[in-house]
Amino acid sequence: MAKAPIIIVGAGVSALWCALRLHPTPCVILSPAILGRACASSWAQGGIASALGPDDSPLLHAEDTIRAGAGLVDTDAALALARLGPVEIKTLFDMGVPFDVDQAGDLILNLEGAHSRPRVARVTGDAAGKAIMTTLITQVRVSDHIHVREKWSAHGLLRDARGHICGVLAKSPDGGIEQLLGRAVVLATGGVGGLYATTTNPREVWGAGMAMAALAGAEILDPEFVQFHPTAMALNRTPAPLASEALRGAGAQILNGHGEAFMAQYDGMGDLAPRDVVARAVAKEIQAGRGAFLDARLAIGAQFPELFPSAFAACMENGIDPREDVIPIAPAAHSLMGGIATDSDGRTTLPGLWAIGECAGTGAHGGNRLASNSLLECLVMGHRAAYQLADMDAQARKGVQALPLAPLPAEGMMRLRRAMSAHAGVVRNARDLQSVIELVDALEAQHGTTGPTIVARLIAGAALRREESRGAHYRSDFPHPHEVPEHSALTLRDLEEVLPQAEQA
Ligand code: SIN
Repeated sequence: MAKAPIIIVGAGVSALWCALRLHPTPCVILSPAILGRACASSWAQGGIASALGPDDSPLLHAEDTIRAGAGLVDTDAALALARLGPVEIKTLFDMGVPFDVDQAGDLILNLEGAHSRPRVARVTGDAAGKAIMTTLITQVRVSDHIHVREKWSAHGLLRDARGHICGVLAKSPDGGIEQLLGRAVVLATGGVGGLYATTTNPREVWGAGMAMAALAGAEILDPEFVQFHPTAMALNRTPAPLASEALRGAGAQILNGHGEAFMAQYDGMGDLAPRDVVARAVAKEIQAGRGAFLDARLAIGAQFPELFPSAFAACMENGIDPREDVIPIAPAAHSLMGGIATDSDGRTTLPGLWAIGECAGTGAHGGNRLASNSLLECLVMGHRAAYQLADMDAQARKGVQALPLAPLPAEGMMRLRRAMSAHAGVVRNARDLQSVIELVDALEAQHGTTGPTIVARLIAGAALRREESRGAHYRSDFPHPHEVPEHSALTLRDLEEVLPQAEQA
């Protein structure tokens, strides 16, 4: 009994960090692809935000996080991220992550939107995610307490007779399904971008963890708060390559097709306003037919390939030389502020079930995540969860019940992704959100309760219920915020009960 492993579902930074920090407690990682592939962490460009500069402090970092979060940030969660960040970065540095340093050996810190100080530690310009993942994968592969199952995924949770989550339904590379029992299950499945047609995330990342947790009855926090990155490259590529916010931190400007730098008209912070503000402004210019572009020619120019190699490669592959041309941009679904509700250590509302990283809703991001706080959260939460899980006792399991998710066929997924981008995107209204829910009902009538339809129901349902505009959730039919900010804390059952009333309204 004592050796039953912790099961970690997902293989991004939070999963690998948690697994490493669990040492010597045995754990199994279910990685849906070869480690490092099809994983949003590997694509993270900006870096890790943390109070590392001489004129900075964790308190200032927490204040910026709280200000960006539109009234919904949990102060303790934001403070924990800000306070623990510098230690995690030092550990990564000592492990060999090649953070960019200046001639004196000090970390080079980028400025990004809504940060009052430069505080984003970067690697090889805009390749932080890839570099961190490379270091962590190397460590994981030589760690005896970690068993990685590559090309394995989870298709549902297992629950024992006492209602404790005790394992997962694991799908092998050849399609066989196995009941994998564990001491606890940690969901680290990432965000929901893959549920949208226009996204910066790998398609595979559509919220599987949230679906499994919701089906088992877990509470979900603020699923309507999906962040749209304002400067995804509009190159007819899916997923859309990202033009990191650090480009604007280095002086690049957003222009419309008339060459006008329009951001100052929308917000006093101009191009470095919080992400929700910039995303709406960019969407508005595009909708008005003026188009939107990122201009790095003057501010970055010849240094572009060296400072932003990932963005440079994406531009050049698509026939755009950003040293000479402006880059066409459009908002794209990028990250999730809410998620499976957890406490500050990653415990969900279901015994035995934990969630870390983007799939978790800790309240740290409120209604609008501060740039480059996500890798930070992956590290801090991965570590905190591991610390608690390492001491967990093994339990005898009786009466194990499986809670499987049905698959959504490709054609249904395509319809759902298009509907989410068109009707649950940067600007929402009741009629459009209702149409998403009608599609979800129709798809479930045909295919049963599938993972993607559960997640779409949660996002659209919570967005429909939130009759205000706040942070990344903007309702054209309710353009103002309520006086008192409130979280959405709901279960799938709550939504199923409430939605018919919304239909009658
Ligand atoms: C970016 O580099 O703009 C993305 C980083 C983030 O999403 O925080």
